[in-house]
Amino acid sequence: MAAKKEPTQAVAKLCVNDQTLDLPVVQASEGSSGIDISKVLKQTGNVTLDPGFSTTASCKSAITYIDGEAGILRYRGYPIEQLAKQSSFLEVAYLLIYGELPDAKQLSTWVTRIKTHRLLHEDFKAFFTAFPANGHPMSILQAGIAGLATYYEDTIDPLDPEKRDLQTILLMAKVPTMISYIAKRAAGLPLLYPAAERSYTEDFLRLTFGLPYQSYDIDPAIIHALDTLFILHADHEQNCSTSTVRVVGSAHANTYASVSAGIGALSGPLHGGANEAVLRMLGQIKNSDMTVKDFVQKVKNKEDGVRLMGFGHRVYKNYDPRAAIVKSLTHDVLERMGQSDELLDLAMELEDIALSDDYFVERKLYPNVDFYTGIIYSAMGFPTKMFTPLFALGRLPGWIAQFREMISDPMTRIARPRQVYVGETKRDYVPLRRRQSK
Ligand code: ACO
Repeated sequence: MAAKKEPTQAVAKLCVNDQTLDLPVVQASEGSSGIDISKVLKQTGNVTLDPGFSTTASCKSAITYIDGEAGILRYRGYPIEQLAKQSSFLEVAYLLIYGELPDAKQLSTWVTRIKTHRLLHEDFKAFFTAFPANGHPMSILQAGIAGLATYYEDTIDPLDPEKRDLQTILLMAKVPTMISYIAKRAAGLPLLYPAAERSYTEDFLRLTFGLPYQSYDIDPAIIHALDTLFILHADHEQNCSTSTVRVVGSAHANTYASVSAGIGALSGPLHGGANEAVLRMLGQIKNSDMTVKDFVQKVKNKEDGVRLMGFGHRVYKNYDPRAAIVKSLTHDVLERMGQSDELLDLAMELEDIALSDDYFVERKLYPNVDFYTGIIYSAMGFPTKMFTPLFALGRLPGWIAQFREMISDPMTRIARPRQVYVGETKRDYVPLRRRQSK
């Protein structure tokens, strides 16, 4: 009888001068496998160089899968299209954080635990008045989330699974309340308390837009649309803000500190800040005598570094599957709100021109998730400055799930990249009186 053949372990070969190294290949269940280069420095004295980490996997992860060429996004194996259509944000959050869809009892316990913790400490209200009312909400949110650690010091140990679970619940529960209070304070309106009988997303809307002297009723279709937007933003594997959360957490900083750092990364206009930048861009085109074609030409000429905001993605080289869902949601929401489609028309014209232009086609630049979201948020009544906090609220479960995976992974070490030093070699200090003036 023939002996059973063991599967061969894939290896890659790396030649450095006259030395050849066998590098193990870590097999992916789908997508790119990873060449393990962790011993290259020790064995060759060289580091690897990959600015922007475009070819570097920083970890093994079982949370989110993206095929950028095919425009596929799945959370824990489930296609984003199915989750957006059939699930709810809190159910998706559970899936991302715990790995499986909850059964009825698990879901009910999860939802109830989050509901129970939605109040902010009364003293925390003073925090919102410590910033200028027109300060950017992302800066206030970043400070507020880091500040949660001071109110819940007994929960901050990230190595204790029970405390980690409490951090998870407290963040999921209190961040929406905090975002609503930031919006209310910016508008000079009174803060409301959370209402236990309302669903997560519904109560977020009520806290943001409701007033103490009148009841707050909202079209369930609008609640559903916002809930769907949160699902679409819930995770996106090792993007800039998620990698930031993991890097900070790898030093065993607590989840509040790590998520707060992620908020800082997300605020950048090349990342989550793009949803705000898209609306400003559309407004500029609308209010100028520039045509959409003129604007596209400006982008192609790279005039003053102008980019078509909401277009392009490091991983998607195809239509972002989230953008496709958001686009159809935008039509529905505008119709329900009975609002004018002027900005949507402008966005669609921009998209049409860009998608048939060689500049964008050659570079595989397609609309990303941020291209249409601002139009919906604006139709719902959110001020432009609140768009990126909405992204942050959607991304919260992804950051938490990635933090938990990182902290529980025995392979995790403190993140500490190397560099290729290209500065001066050793030179001696020159006293000031002997330095030549420049
Ligand atoms: N408009 C015009 N040109 C663009 C755009 C754009 N939006 N995006 C990329 N390009 C061009 C670049 O100028 C470059 O051209 P070149 O080859 O002539 O130099 C080429 O396409 C490759 O671009 P890179 O910047 O190298 O791509 P990278 O993967 O580093 O950047 C990014 C990805 C940051 C998303 C980029 O496409 C961008 O700035 N987009 C606009 C901002 C945006 O929408 N960000 C949201 C991303 S999604 C998210 O974070 C949720």
